[in-house]
Amino acid sequence: MSLDLNGKKIVLGLSGGVACYKAAELCRALVKQGASVQVVMTEAATHFIGAVTMQALSGHTVYTDQWDPRIANNMAHIDLTRGAAAVLIAPCSADFIRKLVHGASDDLLSTLCLARPRHVPLLVAPAMNVEMWENPATQRNVAQLRADGVAVLGPAAGEQACGETGLGRMLEPQDLLDELVASFQPKVLAGKRVLITAGPTFEPIDPVRGITNLSSGKMGYAVARAAREAGAEVLLVSGPTTLPTPHGVRRIDVQSARQMYEAVMGAVPGQHIFVGVAAVADWRVANPSDQKVKKQEGGAPPQLRFEQNPDILATVAATTSLSGWPYCVGFAAESENLLEFGAAKREKKGIPLLVGNIGHHTFGQDDNSIVLFDETGHTVLPRAPKLVLARQLVSEIAKRLEQRSLLT
Ligand code: CTP
Repeated sequence: MSLDLNGKKIVLGLSGGVACYKAAELCRALVKQGASVQVVMTEAATHFIGAVTMQALSGHTVYTDQWDPRIANNMAHIDLTRGAAAVLIAPCSADFIRKLVHGASDDLLSTLCLARPRHVPLLVAPAMNVEMWENPATQRNVAQLRADGVAVLGPAAGEQACGETGLGRMLEPQDLLDELVASFQPKVLAGKRVLITAGPTFEPIDPVRGITNLSSGKMGYAVARAAREAGAEVLLVSGPTTLPTPHGVRRIDVQSARQMYEAVMGAVPGQHIFVGVAAVADWRVANPSDQKVKKQEGGAPPQLRFEQNPDILATVAATTSLSGWPYCVGFAAESENLLEFGAAKREKKGIPLLVGNIGHHTFGQDDNSIVLFDETGHTVLPRAPKLVLARQLVSEIAKRLEQRSLLT
């Protein structure tokens, strides 16, 4: 199994705040992704969660004190970050942000941050009351942290433990994990805007019935996540799915192919890349009923008439021929003759890159194998988790954009 943090040492620092309870879950999530987690807590953090809990979850000795006699050379502030892939402070209090800004070194965690090797990134997840967060002093400090190259993750807005509402909530553990994983991905799409369709569409027959397909949306959501990880601004137009929106991705929900078409065409201007992953219904019911169709005793079943839906990808590709943007990528789910049908579909849709897969084998699965078709032929990307394939696809797209800009 491919784990996103396999073999990486992560120093997880906790400063004082009620969000420490979420750090326990974060620690567990990091370990589950293969990380070796070294927890360091400030004295204030120990008032919110026990070091024993963090030690049991991380499986490593937890340090809270610069003078801890368990490290024989008294060099905890140096040794703990050596070999680390990143230092993540979660929760990071207003006071700890202040300390980082000023290069304080009056406890183990702040000293360790100051003494970490320059190539070890520092990420912080602020957690505090909304007024504390919005106070100009904090905002000044946060701006300085960013200017110093520290990644500031969140905070989120919402109801707070103190009873007030607003910005200041620590990001959820899963979001922090995703942000940390993303920080290790190459930023090959930095500054690019990417529009993606995902999931099935649903074509109504009447208010309670409709026609859909087996697409789960997993591949489209993986592409959205991978594009965001690569530094792009991502807009996801999604048919009905039960999947969570990848962190940092903006999502528009639609049901029918026509709604998807409207949402996409409204968003296309200004996009650098369009990836059509959705399994769009080719036909819609021409005569949907406004009321639920009732069964007639002994009567004939209802007759459905179909009309063809607009081809979203082909329409976007046609606009590209005018402005050169967006770079269009299609997906093709075939049940046979993938190599032949994939190459033909790329030409028919008028797009530079098409991703082929065997549809009924991939729908709903976590793994997939895909074939990339471009003007030079085809390349097989062997079976792997959809997120791994999505990252490879993003890197292939970035490579082609790079080549294109070199040619123009
Ligand atoms: N697509 C689209 N709008 C449609 C139909 C398909 O944008 N109305 C896009 C899909 O998102 C995908 C690509 O076109 O990126 C190929 O979809 P697919 O269903 O495999 O191709 P079709 O053109 O519908 O051809 P067919 O179903 O006949 O194989």
